[in-house]
Amino acid sequence: MGVASETIALTESVTVGCNIPLWGLDWQPGDRILLSDCEHQGIVATVQEISRRFGVAVDVFPLLTPTGSALIDPLQAIEAHLQPRTRLLIVSHILWNTGQVLPLTEIVQLCHQRPAPVWVLVDAAQSVGMLPLDLVASGVDFYAFTGHKWCCGPAGLGGYYGRADRRDRVAPTYIGWRGVTVDHQGQPTGWEADNRRYEVATSDYALMPGLRAALGIHDQWGNAEARYQRISALSRYLWSALQALPQVRCLMPHPPASGLISFQVLAAGEPSAQHHGRLAADLEAAGILVRTLRYPSCVRACVHYFTTETELNHLVEAIRNWAIVHGI
Ligand SMILES: Cc1ncc(COP(=O)(O)O)c(C=O)c1O
Repeated sequence: MGVASETIALTESVTVGCNIPLWGLDWQPGDRILLSDCEHQGIVATVQEISRRFGVAVDVFPLLTPTGSALIDPLQAIEAHLQPRTRLLIVSHILWNTGQVLPLTEIVQLCHQRPAPVWVLVDAAQSVGMLPLDLVASGVDFYAFTGHKWCCGPAGLGGYYGRADRRDRVAPTYIGWRGVTVDHQGQPTGWEADNRRYEVATSDYALMPGLRAALGIHDQWGNAEARYQRISALSRYLWSALQALPQVRCLMPHPPASGLISFQVLAAGEPSAQHHGRLAADLEAAGILVRTLRYPSCVRACVHYFTTETELNHLVEAIRNWAIVHGI
């Protein structure tokens, strides 16, 4: 990730990592938070509660078109929705529904160049383990991630990156022995100097060797850039094959620059949530795991660098046959 370990706090999940700055900043009535219309429900719910408790206004900018499919320029959309009192922008680095990769460095520049700089909190659920990252170079303020998705580690271990020069502005909210220093009588004297101040107490330490082992296996297959290039090539391959099916429309109008490929099954030209649910269940019964998403209603496939072309052909054939069997 290109950061010093002092700027990391270990957490259980992306959501816990997002909660650290969200609750730690000193919100004032009238402050504003801007977030995209593609953020995860756990983050949206946290923002709503902050809004209720502290009188913070929430603005939402679109990344989905009204049809829920095509692409909007994220920089233009953000710029159009930033307001003088906006203090924080929340975006996912990779959108979990469409697979779109957002231009992180440019977004951070845009926000930091405002007369009252806007800080940027990133939901990195889908980007850590998928994209080669240099967070210091990006300038991002806060970046919350997990080890259990694209890193293929055990569930329950993730992390929070927060810039060192933002630390004094993000007060710890949950507090415990791991985050404090103590005197000779064992009484707390202050915070840990680094981001361990946001770690609280006993965690499931046994998860760490599991995550280390997973990362070690990835490193046997080239570096992060090589793995990402392989993901992109496989993603292009799958996107093109799916687009060629008459009953299928991919959400992205071009191959996504990520391993998330979402598509809709069209019945009489319209996407059908019922078909999506049935297709996902039937594929699972055949040993192919995809998932459905509610909005935009779609099916999402994930390709990692170790996915094979044979597996992708198998998926496409299974969808083609399924559509024929169901008369679509
Ligand atoms: C974009 C996004 N954000 C947040 C989450 C929640 O992740 P976690 O359970 O690690 O908090 C997910 C995963 O489901 C996700 O895809």
